[in-house]
Amino acid sequence: MIKRIGVVGAGTMGNGIAQVFAQSGFDVRLCDLVPAAIDRARGSIEKSLAKFVEKGKLTGPDRDAALGRLTTGSDLDALVDVDYVVEAIAELVDAKTDVFKRLDAITKPHVILSSNTSSISITVLGAATKRPDKVLGMHFMNPVPLMTLVELIRGQATSVESMKIATDLCTTLGKTPVEAADYPGFISNRILMPMINEAIFAVMEGVGTPEAIDTVMKLGMNHPMGPLTLADFIGLDVCLAILNVLHDGLGDPKYRPCPLLRRMVAAGQLGRKSGRGFYTY
Ligand SMILES: NC(=O)c1ccc[n+]([C@@H]2O[C@H](COP(=O)([O-])OP(=O)(O)OC[C@H]3O[C@@H](n4cnc5c(N)ncnc54)[C@H](O)[C@@H]3O)[C@@H](O)[C@H]2O)c1
Repeated sequence: MIKRIGVVGAGTMGNGIAQVFAQSGFDVRLCDLVPAAIDRARGSIEKSLAKFVEKGKLTGPDRDAALGRLTTGSDLDALVDVDYVVEAIAELVDAKTDVFKRLDAITKPHVILSSNTSSISITVLGAATKRPDKVLGMHFMNPVPLMTLVELIRGQATSVESMKIATDLCTTLGKTPVEAADYPGFISNRILMPMINEAIFAVMEGVGTPEAIDTVMKLGMNHPMGPLTLADFIGLDVCLAILNVLHDGLGDPKYRPCPLLRRMVAAGQLGRKSGRGFYTY
């Protein structure tokens, strides 16, 4: 019986993941190395829950109960008694592998260790543990409280039973799980990132302004959001990390990250979270 959830990483995704589990009645332990990230996460969760209350989708007492089920901290050892883990730290294979090794040592052996990775191999993360059958990808979409899709990734050694537990958990959260195989970028980013990358090449080559490109895709292709607005929303550092994984893992030059994307990330222009990307916030 899964009651307590550990969430590692309290950034854009981690705070949303912690919120949806807490809203669905689970006790949540949210961990981040950086204390300021935990403070920001609490603020974001409170703001998001307040919006649900304003819209009449959540009662005040239910909001208070959800907040009461959330505990935060910077020590991974606090996850010693959780029943299920979702890792949502930066999209860096070495950092994730290190966290999976530590989680394997800290948590009980039957606990499923999932990753919210956008592109990194679940099989590689599983191999860093002594329980590869219990390691899987649980790829939530941004913003987590509003987006219903969860891409579930089955690693080479992930068991059928672990996938079933994750599938049931998604249903409990009111989300729709879709299974994908463990290839770089899975389904979502294998298709989305080349489009975003191409939009950035189009900016670099002066084919159109960010506004023009986004307007073409919104009004011409009926996308709810243009690719450059979406890139700013995801985080340009996250987009670059995913493109690097696609490029390295699939070996096709069509996935090479646009030089303008590299330059913006080097300059700290990361999109919404840094206040500047293709647009200013
Ligand atoms: N941003 C998106 O739209 C999006 C969508 C789906 C999936 N993802 C994936 O989710 C994951 C997190 O992305 P994000 O956008 O939330 O990143 P983020 O940079 O907003 O947050 C990452 C957080 O992890 C913390 N962290 C880093 N190393 C840590 C460690 N060893 N232990 C504990 N905390 C640590 C950082 O302090 C930071 O607060 C990535 O794997 C990313 O690919 C992102």
